[in-house]
Amino acid sequence: LFGLNTKFTGRNIYFEESVNSTQNIAQRLALEGAEEGTIVVAEEQLGGRGRLERKWQSPKYKGIWMSLILKPSIPIMKTPQLTLLTAVAVVQGIQEVTGVQADIKWPNDLLVNGKKLTGILTEMQADSDRVHSLIIGIGINVNQQLEDFAAELQPSATSIYLETKTSWDRAKIIQGIMMHLEKLYLLYLEKGFYPIKILWESYSISLGQKVTANTLNGSIVGFAKGITDDGVLLLEDEQGVIHSIYSADILMET
Ligand code: BTN
Repeated sequence: LFGLNTKFTGRNIYFEESVNSTQNIAQRLALEGAEEGTIVVAEEQLGGRGRLERKWQSPKYKGIWMSLILKPSIPIMKTPQLTLLTAVAVVQGIQEVTGVQADIKWPNDLLVNGKKLTGILTEMQADSDRVHSLIIGIGINVNQQLEDFAAELQPSATSIYLETKTSWDRAKIIQGIMMHLEKLYLLYLEKGFYPIKILWESYSISLGQKVTANTLNGSIVGFAKGITDDGVLLLEDEQGVIHSIYSADILMET
């Protein structure tokens, strides 16, 4: 990654042609004591993982499939903050390099005109109640044409190529994201989550909308009022009861 001008993010890069999941490799490296900021990038993943046990299609040379190791000294409860921070960094990096302006759907999907461009998956290693390593997986659809997506994804997925009609150098996009990520992470360590939350809210399309949250315990319909300092989504239902949503799929009414 020539031209990468960061202090630690992406200074150690493990580059792989084909892997099961970059998350598995980063997990192993973290256990072996990899430094903060280490990234694993692969050209293809055969077993790419998404949130909620879904698969993540990662076709060869078409996208950015990477995992980043961070080691913030925070309690487990606060890890969603880093996922939201990553979503902001990815929005900013993509915007700066390609001009594509993505919106964030809580917690961390990046959408363009309602179609999914990027997913983020955070896994962690913890000692009792404190985080030891966060493994933040970032999947970005970059150069896929429509037919590169499985038929069932075609209506709901997009790529930077489809949005711009141009092929992009994936290394440049990774660089842009790493620079924004490091800047935000240093801000976070110095000032806490508040400034990140303000940025996240400015890119969010979920807030102020009537949404349905499908959780493991059932569905809740309500207005998305905001996120808490821990990154929890607050939904107000028709009776005025506020629900805290920790993990869910969000459907927005259009
Ligand atoms: C989602 O939206 O469900 C999250 C998708 C995360 C995909 C990325 S690609 C790189 C990393 N390795 C994986 O197996 N998954 C993440």
